[in-house]
Amino acid sequence: MCGIIGYTGDRDTEKVLIEGLKKLEYRGYDSAGIALSGEEEISIYKNEGKVQLLEDRVKEANVAPSFAGIGHTRWATHGKPSQLNSHPHRGKKVVIVHNGIIENYQELKGELAQKGIRPISDTDTEIAALLLDQLYEGDPHAAIFAAIKRLEGSYALGILFTDRPHTIYAVRKDSPLIIGKGQGENFIASDIPAILEYTHDYFLLEEGEMAEITKDNINFYDEKKRPLEKEMLTADWDEQSAMKGGFPHFMVKEINEQPQVVRATLGQYARGGNLFPNQESVFDIKGSIYIVACGSAYHAGLSGKQIIEKMARIPVQVEIASEFRYNNPILRKEDLVVIISQSGETADSLAALRLAKAQGVPTLGIVNVRGSTIAREAATVFYTAAGPEISVATTKAYLCQVALLNLMALKMAEKYISPEELQEKLQQLFSLPTLIKEVLKKESQIKAIAAKFKDAEHLFFIGRGQDYALSCESSLKLKEISYVHSEAYAAGELKHGTISLIEPGTPVVAVMTDRSRIAKTAGNIKEVHARGAIVLCLTHPDVDCSDFADELITLPECSDFIAPIVGAIATQLFAYHIAVARGNDVDKPRNLAKSVTVE
Ligand code: F6R
Repeated sequence: MCGIIGYTGDRDTEKVLIEGLKKLEYRGYDSAGIALSGEEEISIYKNEGKVQLLEDRVKEANVAPSFAGIGHTRWATHGKPSQLNSHPHRGKKVVIVHNGIIENYQELKGELAQKGIRPISDTDTEIAALLLDQLYEGDPHAAIFAAIKRLEGSYALGILFTDRPHTIYAVRKDSPLIIGKGQGENFIASDIPAILEYTHDYFLLEEGEMAEITKDNINFYDEKKRPLEKEMLTADWDEQSAMKGGFPHFMVKEINEQPQVVRATLGQYARGGNLFPNQESVFDIKGSIYIVACGSAYHAGLSGKQIIEKMARIPVQVEIASEFRYNNPILRKEDLVVIISQSGETADSLAALRLAKAQGVPTLGIVNVRGSTIAREAATVFYTAAGPEISVATTKAYLCQVALLNLMALKMAEKYISPEELQEKLQQLFSLPTLIKEVLKKESQIKAIAAKFKDAEHLFFIGRGQDYALSCESSLKLKEISYVHSEAYAAGELKHGTISLIEPGTPVVAVMTDRSRIAKTAGNIKEVHARGAIVLCLTHPDVDCSDFADELITLPECSDFIAPIVGAIATQLFAYHIAVARGNDVDKPRNLAKSVTVE
């Protein structure tokens, strides 16, 4: 989604802004722009397309020195991608950048029209700029607080006033914004990687608070315009981890980081055989578990359901957040609502969390980004230690989520299984880094198979139980970066209609990691193979697929308990290499955004 960066200090403002925007590119965008606040005026440069284009235009323009500036990458919501709709947007005395959606912008637009004020773009953001402009009579605080009283929806705003060239103002609601603190320079940003090159110290701007930022001072005010003291945080992500480190894409770099990040994630909650110390109350579940999430995080939930129900016999319902929030769900106080989110900012997941809290149901967040809204609002948080995930398509965060859910299943099953079985399963989990490395060694084999499938128009992933969950994730991974249409099917369900799509040459990836169901899945594979499908099997080395597998990827020796986690590495690499072979922008697939902060 959209990204914000702001800077005030002695460096070249335009350079800091453009470098910051490049670091935010991973969030997904279709246009970019900056505003530079100089002695005389605020100059705006913006265009549809890449930040690189903006950089070239700014270089050509030979810009005048500036004291402060704000920049933005836009992911279109209101109005198509175009230069006119790009941010920053301006009124006569004010310039803003905005993340989020102003829901009542039509009503505000009508009010402005009655005063003869008309926007030139199609955006909700310009309406907010014009509103603020109307309200500004020399007192920024008064104007900003009056404006946000009128704005409905979500927003993180970076604001410049023409008569205050040294100051940036920032305010937010339901859309994250941080204020970075440097030495003689300060920043605003929608995301930590944008400022890591300059500082690791930052403040989280809370709902309804306003920040006033000059190069030497950061002042915070609450809704009643009273000054606020805020705690400064320090990011423990190093800048290196937000860079490609010699890999051609972030995605493959992140795939390769999985041995370390899975170990780090598990290590936080399993020390000396003691699982989730001091968290007993979270696991005292008398009712059902609802796992609510979006996209890959939802698929992690599907995998978690299989393992939790199998091991701990606690009923688990997995819900798509955008559905759950409007379904008027029947929750009880003895249930547990688990929200899974890498970013911790996904609008629908956050809404689901708030809904559960409003009904007095215990909540747990499984979140990657510390300090994110879901992390702060969930009653309890377990963190995945995936580090910054830059590639839009998640890999390492997903894997950490599934590994953590497996560890949680062990904790829930602690009272039912023997100490020996617990230890054995724990050891299996901690052998994951080694097993993941084994799959990573198969990359050239997987790349060669991907080359054979790269021109497919449609592709099916089939599996049962935990393998259906992995099929869903593998299918999403493939389609989002390769643009090959793909479907995941529960293997036994195929014959109830969808098998009519199978014709000679249709590629089918059969996921078979759950030994208890392999015979059943094999039967389903034979059905598609008999109709001419080209079958790629992903399974254990001791499984005989010679009757139906045209291609085979074998897992390293591992138990069923962890096999879907090990197998995910293979399908991630498969998707990655198909996307690369098709010449796609792997890290920034079209139409997608990293952090989906609008519903
Ligand atoms: C797919 C992907 C998305 C996210 C989804 C939820 O590769 O990354 O499907 O999983 O948008 O995002 P978070 O986990 O940030 O809530």
